[in-house]
Amino acid sequence: MKLKYLGHSALLAEAGGTGILIDPFLTGNPRAGAGAGELTPDYIVLTHGHADHIGDTVEIADRTGCTVVSTPEICTWLEERGAKTLMMNIGGPRSFGNFSLRFTPAWHSNSLPDGTYGGMPMGVVIEAAGKRIYHAGDTALFSDMQLIGSGPRLDVAFLPIGGNFTMDPAQAVDAVKLLKPRVVVPIHYGTFPPIEQDAAAFARAVTSETDSGCEVLEPGQSLQI
Ligand code: NI
Ligand code: MN
Repeated sequence: MKLKYLGHSALLAEAGGTGILIDPFLTGNPRAGAGAGELTPDYIVLTHGHADHIGDTVEIADRTGCTVVSTPEICTWLEERGAKTLMMNIGGPRSFGNFSLRFTPAWHSNSLPDGTYGGMPMGVVIEAAGKRIYHAGDTALFSDMQLIGSGPRLDVAFLPIGGNFTMDPAQAVDAVKLLKPRVVVPIHYGTFPPIEQDAAAFARAVTSETDSGCEVLEPGQSLQI
């Protein structure tokens, strides 16, 4: 699986020729790792409807005809705007052929840019090519992360460290202790002043306090697993 970090919480996961784009906030992100117009995913997965996550979804879905996977509330809102969607919710996995996907809880809020209620905010676990990744979405630290990390070891966990709206670096280190992934990648920091953080210091804390590795990816950089 190839994991390309696109800045903020945006991630493009490619497995077996299938492109899965998570939270594509690119236009308006001063540190975006790609232009929205360059992307041709098969699926867009949205953890919640905040503007810094839904981002360019309507434009990309319209241009590519890809399927958007999210809460029923977000899917209904997007269908009214012409997108093709597939409704899921927090629960067990659904198979998409060469990958499977399940949504996890996240402690946050969830509305669409016009104020419409978006359902529960979520994280997502994707399994493909024998690998297992977790994208936490926007969330506070919560002890049920231990359940998300149980079973086959997570290969990569993408965790927000920006603070203010989500976990900060110290809380994200505690999350790593619950999730026990092979590798953690910090996200949702450095985009705007309220979420400036020192990712190198976070990486040092992960390495010294946990059994996980840490990869700090610049927007546009990829990780092959
Ligand atoms: Ni949010
Ligand atoms: Mn956010």
